Amino acid sequence: MDVKVNLTVNGKKRSVTTDPKRSLLDVLREELNLTGTKYGCGEGRCGACTVLMDGKRVLSCVTPAAQANKKTITTIEGLARGDSLHPVQEAFLAEGAMQCGYCTPGMILTAAALLEKNPNPTDEEITTAMNVNLCRCNGYTKILNAVRRASKK
Ligand code: FES
Ligand code: FES
Repeated sequence: MDVKVNLTVNGKKRSVTTDPKRSLLDVLREELNLTGTKYGCGEGRCGACTVLMDGKRVLSCVTPAAQANKKTITTIEGLARGDSLHPVQEAFLAEGAMQCGYCTPGMILTAAALLEKNPNPTDEEITTAMNVNLCRCNGYTKILNAVRRASKK
């Protein structure tokens, strides 16, 4: 039976009636047209679908929509403030830390969550935090440089 899910997405209150087991990723992409969040493996292994739920990183492909009820979700579309990009977005641009860009929204949200919790991470801490996000283009060196650069802001 469908349920009503009330959530705040990128600062806006939204309400969706859906199968409670449907993934948060599907709801974001198909109901709310927020296609910045990507579908990669669909089974919690690649990080492409990363969003923030109440500020914490979650994999939206394995998060049931019902779990987002009364929660605050941030997707890549909600990270900038007006015309100002988030420091992690700026750093990814400055370092050219993207090739095909498919992994980039998830990478940026994981890095943003890390820096929120730990503004001055060591390289090891960055690597550990980012380890959950895969880049099929193998852009890890530039991604590490970008997160390091963002942490200096
Ligand atoms: S699409 Fe969610 S972890 Fe791969
Ligand atoms: S830039 Fe292509 S998957 Fe990472």
